[in-house]
Amino acid sequence: MAYLAVVTGGAGAIGQEIAAQLAATHDAVVLVDVDAEKLKTTHAKLESSSGGQQKFIPEICNITDPTAVKDLARRVSERGTVRTLVNNAGATNAGSLHEMTVESWKAEIDLNLNASFLCFQAFSESLKACPASPSVVNVASANGLGMFGNPAYSAAKAGLIHLTRSIAVEYGRFGIRCNAVAPGTVKTAAWEQKIQTNPKVLDEVKQWYPMQRIVEVSHVASTVAFLASEQAGSITGVCLPVDCGLLAGSPPLARAFAVSEYY
Ligand SMILES: NC(=O)c1ccc[n+]([C@@H]2O[C@H](COP(=O)([O-])OP(=O)(O)OC[C@H]3O[C@@H](n4cnc5c(N)ncnc54)[C@H](O)[C@@H]3O)[C@@H](O)[C@H]2O)c1
Repeated sequence: MAYLAVVTGGAGAIGQEIAAQLAATHDAVVLVDVDAEKLKTTHAKLESSSGGQQKFIPEICNITDPTAVKDLARRVSERGTVRTLVNNAGATNAGSLHEMTVESWKAEIDLNLNASFLCFQAFSESLKACPASPSVVNVASANGLGMFGNPAYSAAKAGLIHLTRSIAVEYGRFGIRCNAVAPGTVKTAAWEQKIQTNPKVLDEVKQWYPMQRIVEVSHVASTVAFLASEQAGSITGVCLPVDCGLLAGSPPLARAFAVSEYY
């Protein structure tokens, strides 16, 4: 029996690094993405860096489409049993409530919350049938735990953190664990639009981080790989920030409130 990992948004920066790390502990990793061109390039890159072991399976799918997700699950079931599902695909455009339309609100909730439910539902039977430590890891965001703009995305990510707990509580009896990660700022294509508006944005946000830097893609991926591993075999229902301390607090705020230069 082949044990698979399924990574949505697998052609993106964080998704491909998660896929690369999970390849070490799974027979194959299914890269799911809606962007066919990007998927082709990423698949070729991952295959060549793993020495052409045919460890990666590219699957084009719009995960907001329930029928497409069911078809995807059917195709994947022909390749093996899903041990790990990583709900990683996500994106945001509308920065504030004022800029939001009904359509943009619904689209962000659809991609960042509803699609993860669809994927979990579609792969749940395969996860239940997996005898080897099945688990789900949801890629949420610091935005799901604090207010950093992008309200629909943030509401969806907060919902995703709660979905994490729901899956953990209801499916624990099948041996399925479910956890989330909440990354802070990571330099990926997701920031391109904001960088176009403000080329200094990634430097400016650093001041709010206790570590005075943003998050590495590899650190998000290694946390996902840890949560999916046997080492985390008794961890379920948690959301682990990978945020260089952002959610702990901000030095400029501490400096102002404590009236102390030591922050
Ligand atoms: N980059 C950050 O600062 C940051 C911070 C916190 C959380 N995150 C989260 O990390 C995850 C990955 O983001 P990233 O920064 O790697 O972005 P990215 O844009 O590089 O990757 C996202 C991928 O998802 C795919 N995708 C989008 N809509 C899809 C759909 N409907 N169906 C299938 N695939 C779809 C895109 O084609 C893309 O390849 C997202 O959930 C994002 O919210 C990112």
